[in-house]
Amino acid sequence: MYKITSSDRCHDSSYYWINGNLRNMSHTIAIDGYSACGKSTLAKALAKRLGYRFIDTGAMYRMITLYFLRENVDIKNMGAVGGALEGLTVDFVPGNNDALLNGENVETEIRGGAVSGMVSPVATISAVRRWIVPQQREMGKAGGIVMDGRDIGTVVFPDADLKLFVTASMDIRTNRRLAELEAKGITTTREEVATNLATRDHIDSSREDSPLRQAEDAIVVDNSALSLEAFIEAGMDEVKKIR
Ligand code: DC
Repeated sequence: MYKITSSDRCHDSSYYWINGNLRNMSHTIAIDGYSACGKSTLAKALAKRLGYRFIDTGAMYRMITLYFLRENVDIKNMGAVGGALEGLTVDFVPGNNDALLNGENVETEIRGGAVSGMVSPVATISAVRRWIVPQQREMGKAGGIVMDGRDIGTVVFPDADLKLFVTASMDIRTNRRLAELEAKGITTTREEVATNLATRDHIDSSREDSPLRQAEDAIVVDNSALSLEAFIEAGMDEVKKIR
């Protein structure tokens, strides 16, 4: 683990002496990929190792969806969508990164079935994306950030210092999501999980505004056959090439 003290800091605030080496600490790392492929796990792990901020942009779309559900917003009515966006703020608890909707911790609620079933259609709405993307850019403007989502390398940070595109086989993704849900005590079937993932993949990659796709300069990390440690090391290997 790198240790940074204030005396290690250079006069240029983006550079630090770390373990005897001068390192740039202001990189922007964009991680994209399909649902349940492990991108947030990698983003979180890299941010922790680097001392960077981690932003899960999926959580932002989930918070917006939760608000729309609570306020019964008709997502086909753009006037209603625009009005609702004026009444909401999305943020994260410093430290543990829990989702904060209008100051309320909604981390558990945004992972539940109601939000998961609605979030992909909400994320297709251009007005929603036009509202949230500038906020994501603002969060990352100073660098020192690992942001994960679907359009980070293509739209939010097209000039990111490193772009990773995470993939895993459908079988592996289904098993992981199933285990995650079971651990939370949510009863479901393998078939239901597989169908939900396939539906979300389709909506996310076929929408008109900012569809999920691999940026031309992204590096693919397929973790289907990798242990968690090997997966994180594969990501770190790419980070080391830019540092
Ligand atoms: O990563 P996730 O499953 O929490 O994402 C929830 C939804 O939000 C998913 O359907 C895709 C969408 N999303 C998006 O369109 N753009 C992003 N940058 C992040 C997520």
